[in-house]
Amino acid sequence: MIAKIRAFSPPALLALLQLALLTVPPALNSAAASPASGDQKQKPLGGHDHHHHHITTQNRVTWDEQSLLIDGKRLFIFSGEVHPWRNPVQSLHLDVLQKLKAAGFNAVSIYFHWGAVEWERGVFRWNELFDLQPFFDAAKEAGLYIIARPGPYVNAETTGGGFPGWGNRVEGLWRKSNKNYTEAYTPFVNEFGKLIAKNEITKGGPIILVQVENEYSGFGDGHEDFEYEAELLQAFKDSGITVPTICDDAWLGGHFQSVDIYGWNSYPLGFDCSHPERWHNAPPDNFYNSYNEKIRKHGPKSILELQAGGFDGWGGAGYDACGKLIGPEFERAMYGSAVRIMNLYMAFGGTNWGQSAEPGVYTSYDYGSIIREDRRLRDKYYELKLQTQFLAVSPAYLTSKPWQLTENDQIGILKGARGIVLTVLEDTIGLHTKFYIVRQKDFSKFELKTYRIELKTSIGDISVPRTGPPLDLQARDSNILLVDYMAGPTHIIYTTAEVYSWKTIDDITYVIVYGDENEHHEAAFNVKDIKDFMSLEQEGAKWSYEIEEKILTVRFTILEDGDAQTIRFGKTILVILDREVASKTWILDTTPPTIIKGGYLIRSANIEGPKLHLKGDLVQATRLHILAPKSVTQVTFNGKDVDTQPATEGWLYVMYTPELPDINIPELSQLDWKYENSLPEISASYDDSQWTTADNTYTPNGYKPQTKEILYASDYGYHSGNLIWRGHFKATGGENEFWLDIQGGRAFGYSVWDSGVYVGFWEGDVTTSRHTSNFRLPATWKGGEKHTLTILQDHMGLEENWTAATEFFKSPRGPINYGFKGAQPKLVKWKLTGNLGGEKYIDKERGPWNEGGLYAERQGSPLDGIKEPGVAFYRSTFDLHVPEGVDYPMAIQYSNSTGSYYRSQIYINGYQFGKYVNSIGPQTSFFVPQGILNYNGTNTIAISLWAMQDAGASLKSLDLRILGKVEGGVGRVRNAPMPLWTKRSDVY
Ligand code: GAL
Repeated sequence: MIAKIRAFSPPALLALLQLALLTVPPALNSAAASPASGDQKQKPLGGHDHHHHHITTQNRVTWDEQSLLIDGKRLFIFSGEVHPWRNPVQSLHLDVLQKLKAAGFNAVSIYFHWGAVEWERGVFRWNELFDLQPFFDAAKEAGLYIIARPGPYVNAETTGGGFPGWGNRVEGLWRKSNKNYTEAYTPFVNEFGKLIAKNEITKGGPIILVQVENEYSGFGDGHEDFEYEAELLQAFKDSGITVPTICDDAWLGGHFQSVDIYGWNSYPLGFDCSHPERWHNAPPDNFYNSYNEKIRKHGPKSILELQAGGFDGWGGAGYDACGKLIGPEFERAMYGSAVRIMNLYMAFGGTNWGQSAEPGVYTSYDYGSIIREDRRLRDKYYELKLQTQFLAVSPAYLTSKPWQLTENDQIGILKGARGIVLTVLEDTIGLHTKFYIVRQKDFSKFELKTYRIELKTSIGDISVPRTGPPLDLQARDSNILLVDYMAGPTHIIYTTAEVYSWKTIDDITYVIVYGDENEHHEAAFNVKDIKDFMSLEQEGAKWSYEIEEKILTVRFTILEDGDAQTIRFGKTILVILDREVASKTWILDTTPPTIIKGGYLIRSANIEGPKLHLKGDLVQATRLHILAPKSVTQVTFNGKDVDTQPATEGWLYVMYTPELPDINIPELSQLDWKYENSLPEISASYDDSQWTTADNTYTPNGYKPQTKEILYASDYGYHSGNLIWRGHFKATGGENEFWLDIQGGRAFGYSVWDSGVYVGFWEGDVTTSRHTSNFRLPATWKGGEKHTLTILQDHMGLEENWTAATEFFKSPRGPINYGFKGAQPKLVKWKLTGNLGGEKYIDKERGPWNEGGLYAERQGSPLDGIKEPGVAFYRSTFDLHVPEGVDYPMAIQYSNSTGSYYRSQIYINGYQFGKYVNSIGPQTSFFVPQGILNYNGTNTIAISLWAMQDAGASLKSLDLRILGKVEGGVGRVRNAPMPLWTKRSDVY
């Protein structure tokens, strides 16, 4: 074991390089002993390490310049990002993960949230909500590997970027080898490291890679801190982690190259979803095919975050717009590349429930991803499946290298076509399979281009198409033409239509190709001894063939009505589909495999004697076309027998009509609502003696205040939700204005009262984090009078700390400065409250960030003892009875109400699942998952309403809506813990 290496200064690059060498796992010798698939000539390089005297002994996950290998077998890592804390219903993880698996992913990447489990310094709370073990187990059950990204910093549009709020009181710069910070993260790294180690593949768990830090790329002090990198890596290794480490540089900047595998992030279209048809940015250089001179250490080409949607900020365009901007066209145009470890950010976004968002984003974190926040599938889910499945059956892709083409070369190959860019990936071994990836150069235009292309094949250079019209290239697309591609035993000499998948079932190899409707394509096969060429009689089929010198060439047009065309030769069946049908075709890894055409979602298949058991989700009566081994004669769907009809060439047909029973959902406006005012604190006689006295005169925070007393909420342990400040003053006489400089994060707002009388407010806007205003006092103060100024402010979450070696996440919440005009009163004291208990929060079950400081939130129940007017709380109950076996996601919908300014939060069974700012938006529909909503019993709904103007606001238009209906789903959903209200002790 090497000792911790300390104290080398940043310019000591040599020391870093030595360290990098020392910390590479020795694993690869053993990988060579269990070599990868047949014709693999190259020895993996990743473990060329003769310094065996350290702790990394795992040998299951190895790598070389070309790909990752698991147990010696190469694989493309197709991963999607999911954040466990953004879905507090543990038994729903499996649903998301099965959906990823069904889409062809083989891995899921997760961030951890340090703040969530160590809200109180030194106390780790792995209670039910934040326990990661159920997620690990669900990934394993779904058959996905995990890329663990524990931070300590994660960014992720979450409060503090994952840093705990108490970090505000830890002096000095963070994300740096500064002693205070090191002491702060070490227990967390131990704790999380142990958890990772326990769930590594080497121990039978799903974790195969660990990303250390996050985008360690921008530095407030201008220095990449190599000592921090080394210490952090070592700390994770000391906690037992043995799988390879990886980084995610924010760009190809060459940072953090001491990890095992260098990786980077890419968001080609950025985060403005307001014009989803407009692609502002240029495509990434070379479509990720080349590194630059800064990258010394490679490993397989790895993109740890490839844009798969966008976050949307307060006042933004809404997530359907983001889903359009980063939609099927984006997937088609951008994702074909030479990358070998690819993680899409996000695959499922989830919800910023409670106060877990950073100020830039609102409650939904849908992200416009392939799986919506409510777990329904977007169109882009199906489009992506075409790529995941293709890569899963194309091992040649993993050992290929890109040709660097100049525009002139390309014109030669592309036969004069202009405005088209070409990347060729050529396999370095075997048949030298080639992938010709053709794209338009300028994505801002919408022109259809046509082209002919010269392919280098094993039977010579062939200009395709050999006859007929040229090939089509749509504006935002890429065509992948294949040369000398082995679909199992079938040698495809070339194809202009894209391959979706191929599978061998009962000795027949099915090769599924697809294109867009009416496109003409050509494919040629090496048919050494073809005895039984056979076409299938099909009305309206549009294909022809010729056999010449043992080369079979098939020309075909993709049918308009979505019908398949099937051509049989030897033991191969070519199945020609249109894109839409191909994208809804499911490849299931039964032994032998099963292929199913049709259906909203097929989760899994299982063959038991003559029976094929399918599990899936259907939205309407659906005909499924099934390719299964001949032994299968009967099909069940979700456990029910279905009428099964054999058809030609191995296909079976079943027709299934889902059962989607009607259910009663309450009309919220008709419920019996209890109403209470929830701001007794504005009254002069209110007793705040149990509140925290804000009388610190020193703050460890680098942002120094102008006031003598520190009014930073985090200095007193309050890190989220509404904050209430009470300033007690003794008047000198003549005070007539109060001015306030206060900070709460973008879109925050506040209201001010003077001893029970309303003074004024700021309603907030999308850019203002800190606001200064002068308020005329309701009446000029008289000498000797006691006055209490009550300030209710919103806290939009702690800032992120994207730039390392800064203190951005410590941006204070609370008054930065204040004063009076007319005369200066004497300050008696400032009092403060946020959530009851602060870091020692009371509701252990629902976790640290669920509650804010409103009276009803502190009580844990909105019903008790509120007598004075203020913020309103409404509460009611309703029952739901949703039978098992269906998935009906629901949301609470506010109607758009303008006029007076208000802020509102939704609590369902005690969980905050919505924060609505009516003047800012854009979110008006708040998804609440099953498990937070009790689908079989009584639900309590509570709504807080902070009206900023006297006009108030009405709840008449609140609705509970069903967003969609499927039969299927993940099975029984266990509710998140929802203990009933009990009176809290020491409550105020
Ligand atoms: C990346 C970051 C992620 C997330 C993303 C935007 O830069 O690594 O954590 O913030 O941007 O959604």
